[in-house]
Amino acid sequence: MLEESISSLITNQNGIYVDGTFGRGGHSRKILERISLKGSLFSYDLDPEAKLEAANINHSNFHFIHDNYRNIHLNFSDNSIDGVLLDCGVSSPQLDNPARGFSFKDNGPLDMRFNPKVGVSCAEIVNTFDEKDISKILWDYGEEKESRRIAKAIVDRRTVKGFTDTKDLSELICSVKKRKTKKHPATKSFQALRIAVNDEIESLQDCLVNLKTKLKKGGRIVIISFHSLEDRIAKISFKEEVSFIEKKIPLIDDEPMKEFKVSKIIYPDEQELSNNIRSRSAKMRVIEKL
Ligand SMILES: C[S@@+](CC[C@H](N)C(=O)[O-])C[C@H]1O[C@@H](n2cnc3c(N)ncnc32)[C@H](O)[C@@H]1O
Repeated sequence: MLEESISSLITNQNGIYVDGTFGRGGHSRKILERISLKGSLFSYDLDPEAKLEAANINHSNFHFIHDNYRNIHLNFSDNSIDGVLLDCGVSSPQLDNPARGFSFKDNGPLDMRFNPKVGVSCAEIVNTFDEKDISKILWDYGEEKESRRIAKAIVDRRTVKGFTDTKDLSELICSVKKRKTKKHPATKSFQALRIAVNDEIESLQDCLVNLKTKLKKGGRIVIISFHSLEDRIAKISFKEEVSFIEKKIPLIDDEPMKEFKVSKIIYPDEQELSNNIRSRSAKMRVIEKL
């Protein structure tokens, strides 16, 4: 959705743009190609490797900020931003590097933090959280139907030996899961734990709430999400009434806020699906301040 997201984002070549999820800079580089020298791009990412990659971009109108996108609002005045892109979740290079601990396929330390220097790692969650809290993470963020069984097995096992690596955890999950699925049995649990480790849902929620005043009239937020909860946040953050009860976010059918227009979901086209298998669960929404 590279092309489509950029053309939806840019409405003014001389504008101020923010890429909240720099990753390895695919979207940021495209934005820089499209804006003029009067325009500017501020790219955020928590990952120190993204910061290294950003150092290779030599553009006077490009600025990298090594921070959480939930803090974007702190750097901008009201009605100043023309467009914000959020390509949520984990990047392929992060997933593919076993040393980052995101993958159940190759063994690595059980970390999963976008910034490995900050916050609580996945190992800390599975080794110290209550069984009920682990089960809730697996259910809320992974829609894992066997969340209780897996959480119990994790807590039983850690009394003998704590978890330190991804293979260890993934093998335990495979050994307790009863239902057979097409996907690897640890897929949902790993996704859920990654979301919890990085506080992904709350970060998105904070980011969107705080951006409302920062966007200019006609300014846009383009959100590419991979998880139904993220898409739901994108939709309900721009409704008149938003009620968040703990982490359960109800689907409510209130009217959209009068000053915002939220597009329908846009899906990847056939060509993207055939080039990139990971794009199969991607959904895009474009929000415009009227
Ligand atoms: C799907 S990738 C983005 C890929 C990017 N669009 C590209 O073209 O390379 C998501 C990136 O967002 C970063 N990220 C996720 N949540 C974040 C947050 N709350 N604040 C800042 N960066 C975040 C991750 O570290 C990851 O590098």
